[in-house]
Amino acid sequence: MASLHVELTDRLVAAFAAVAGDEVDPVLRRSQHADFQADASLALAKKLGKAPRDIAAEVVAKAQLDDICTDVEISGPGFINMSLDAGFLNRCVAAAVGDSRLGVAAAGKPQHVVVDYSAPNVAKEMHVGHLRSTFIGDAAVRVLGWMGHRISRENHIGDWGTPFGMLIEHLLDLGETEGAKELSVGDLDAFYKAARVKFDADEAFAERARERVVLLQGGDAETLRLWQILINESQAYFMDVYGRLDVKLTSDDFVGESFYNDQLESVCNELAALGLLVESDGAEVVFPDGFTNRDGNPLPLIVRNRLGGYGYASTDLATIRHRLRDLDAARVVYVVGLPQKLHFQMIFQAAVEAGWLTDDARVEHIGFGSILGTDGKLLRSRSGDSIKLVELIDEAVRRASEAVAEKNPELDAETAAAVAQMVGIGAVKYADLSSERTKDYTFDFDRMLAFEGNTAPYLQYAHARICSIFRKGEVGVPADPSVVRVEADAERALVLELLAFPEVVADVADGLDFHRLAHYLFGVASVFTTFYEHCPVLKTDDATRDSRLVLCELTRRTLAQGLDLLGIGAPEQM
Ligand code: ARG
Repeated sequence: MASLHVELTDRLVAAFAAVAGDEVDPVLRRSQHADFQADASLALAKKLGKAPRDIAAEVVAKAQLDDICTDVEISGPGFINMSLDAGFLNRCVAAAVGDSRLGVAAAGKPQHVVVDYSAPNVAKEMHVGHLRSTFIGDAAVRVLGWMGHRISRENHIGDWGTPFGMLIEHLLDLGETEGAKELSVGDLDAFYKAARVKFDADEAFAERARERVVLLQGGDAETLRLWQILINESQAYFMDVYGRLDVKLTSDDFVGESFYNDQLESVCNELAALGLLVESDGAEVVFPDGFTNRDGNPLPLIVRNRLGGYGYASTDLATIRHRLRDLDAARVVYVVGLPQKLHFQMIFQAAVEAGWLTDDARVEHIGFGSILGTDGKLLRSRSGDSIKLVELIDEAVRRASEAVAEKNPELDAETAAAVAQMVGIGAVKYADLSSERTKDYTFDFDRMLAFEGNTAPYLQYAHARICSIFRKGEVGVPADPSVVRVEADAERALVLELLAFPEVVADVADGLDFHRLAHYLFGVASVFTTFYEHCPVLKTDDATRDSRLVLCELTRRTLAQGLDLLGIGAPEQM
């Protein structure tokens, strides 16, 4: 059975087509005055030269709705208001409960999707920007994967370039074992800073570092071996962080800048052959169409600098070519902070001009804003340094375990620890994913860990509470979901909300605006609360109890699935 929304839409599309002559989006939405309304008549008035109310009347006459609606009315300037038949709602609920995917259809045409996310830099601490990229990218991987697409997770780590000269020399100064140890315990920033200080203060060191870069780029075996130590230790550290964040990234997903090394020259040659490469101040650049600076001069992407070296833009050109041409990706998603917006716009435009990016593929920069402290400034530690990601997570888990201990002192130690983990990490992820992606948001432990409001703990608690209804009542989910009878207003409100899940997931898979899913789940938990206040579940006659237990179960599974798509666990008790 199609989802409620699809069923209703299909029938309205057919009726509007009969009236308008071609396919029209019926502009379906939830209504204040009925269950749903369709507003398309208004926009059609001009085209058809008729009054919107008359169009609506014709559509209603043509539409086959009587088996699913009890009431269809035209209101206001020409809205079509529809009240759904309870029997139809019952069938929809039974179908959703009976479906392991809760009525969410997998994508008709599965695509190969590359998701570029996390992408910290080797021998440098991950910062909160990488935190956002990791959470958003992980949610993208989960949602698109659940929709049935084939996903390539690509962790485009910064593992190449000039800083590696000084990093390798610093490693040698420390001694390989000592240096590796410093990195493996996660003291990445100290390592990087110490190298930088020497590079700036000690001319002999700086000279050695510069020579080392030449050796590295020339493929010198011993230099590559040392470079590999830095890579391995940093990757091990990143994997440790990912484990603590409970995200899907694995060690197979590191496809860093160095991976594209041997493709850079070919990219350069290809751009030259296409006539796109221009000499500018001794460098070789492309000027993608449509980008100028304040003085109106065209903006370049530097493909090869005047010393013959390649940089960030060169690598991203090779990367996009590889993804579109060699991996044949239908969709490429770059989850990177908004400060790099212009960079990606220029890369995408250059890819169009080079013929790599055509209408067959969709390439998007999924940008995001910054994280602010409660003082309204960029999140920093007390000493003014950028904050360590893992420290935030540890602190969130610590606070969560206090909150859980207070809320439910009866939990045994092992369960309490597992719940605290889910709540702490969930709170940080949810605070991020529930705010509009392109906006900045304030990192506030107290708010994100509150059990009230639009927070992970609130949703997790709603989930746990439903589990406890089954536990306390010592009842299972009725085997036959068709026992559902939607009667009370609060039941109807809950059901309409639950049946919207497929629409919400499809919308989020398209736009990757995860706050819409978060907002939806918050709505589900809120209408469930109202339902639970007005509709006793256990203390009622058997038939009503079974019907309501089915609603409880559909709510529970919707919350659990929705949270899982955001990378957040749903505890059974807390
Ligand atoms: N390593 C970069 C940074 O820390 C992010 C890389 C994003 N991905 C890309 N294809 N450029 O800013």
